[in-house]
Amino acid sequence: MSRNLKMEFVSELHQRTDYVSGQELCTKFQVSRTMVWKVMNQLKEEGYQIEAVTNRGYRLKESPDVVTPEEIKSVLRTRWLGKKIVYYEATDSTNLRAKEEAEGADSHGLLVVTDSQEAGRGRRGRSWACEKGTALAMSFVLKPKLRSEKLSMLTLIAAVAVSRAVETVAGLSNEIKWPNDIVIHGRKVCGILTEMSTQEDYVNHVVVGIGVNVNASQFPEEIQDMAGSLFTEGGKKIKRARLLAAILEEFEKLYEQFEQTENLSFMQEEYNQKLVSMGKEIKVVSYDGERRGRSGGINEAGELYVTFEDGTQELVCSGEVSVRGLYGYI
Ligand code: BTN
Repeated sequence: MSRNLKMEFVSELHQRTDYVSGQELCTKFQVSRTMVWKVMNQLKEEGYQIEAVTNRGYRLKESPDVVTPEEIKSVLRTRWLGKKIVYYEATDSTNLRAKEEAEGADSHGLLVVTDSQEAGRGRRGRSWACEKGTALAMSFVLKPKLRSEKLSMLTLIAAVAVSRAVETVAGLSNEIKWPNDIVIHGRKVCGILTEMSTQEDYVNHVVVGIGVNVNASQFPEEIQDMAGSLFTEGGKKIKRARLLAAILEEFEKLYEQFEQTENLSFMQEEYNQKLVSMGKEIKVVSYDGERRGRSGGINEAGELYVTFEDGTQELVCSGEVSVRGLYGYI
């Protein structure tokens, strides 16, 4: 059965608040009654709760929490981001898969998403664990016409996009741990890994990888105190496709502003308001040791102002240092 027809049906069912008749579907999609029946059955097998009533037709009661292209496309309202979707039921890392896709022509905006990421990559060579079916693991490709030194800002843009989406879709206020972790009640619920391929000063492509703990109900003991999910922190199960769509919609808007300014002036205030370390004591960890200081906000380039114990103020860059709270992750 063609995936496209399933996608068109899912999209139609999502848009209708009332029943849609079999005949209307036949006419609209130029298919037979038998085909309508077959597609509906296939969707039911995939977890869509579809009510079928004689003389009225079909109505979508509930869609499953899946991140298939049909489910994403039926809720996604972007102009260019995520219009091409590569979906894996399971894969090692969406960042790795997106890097392969990035080589192809027309890959700007391409999205790779999986239901089960088995070897997720984190920042600083760490791994990123995702529980099958409960986490959002996605990466998208960008081909920005920018010099490479501007690219670290994309990761802060992604953080603001996730932060806004979590607020609208899950109704949860959240904070940002510089440069790009999303934190709720002191627990990390999202990590972002931006990887790029550059040639001299210019950018071939960028892959923005976003992992959100959405519906997980528990975490291994070692990370229980610092990791959380939207479910553990908000008590509500969230449809991953809706969250994904909201993230892409916010990112697309922010990215277009960034293309104009090539700095973060348009979101600096919002970022600083959400910054969890603002005004707090922190440790700045670099390859040559640790220094204590007090965190300010970010500048237009996304660098963090820190006032160190000796009174000197410096701007720190995300590629060079990491920042910790004095007594733990925050
Ligand atoms: C971090 O260390 O905080 C960053 C974690 C980034 C995880 C995401 S999940 C989707 C994408 N694919 C990966 O392999 N990593 C990123």
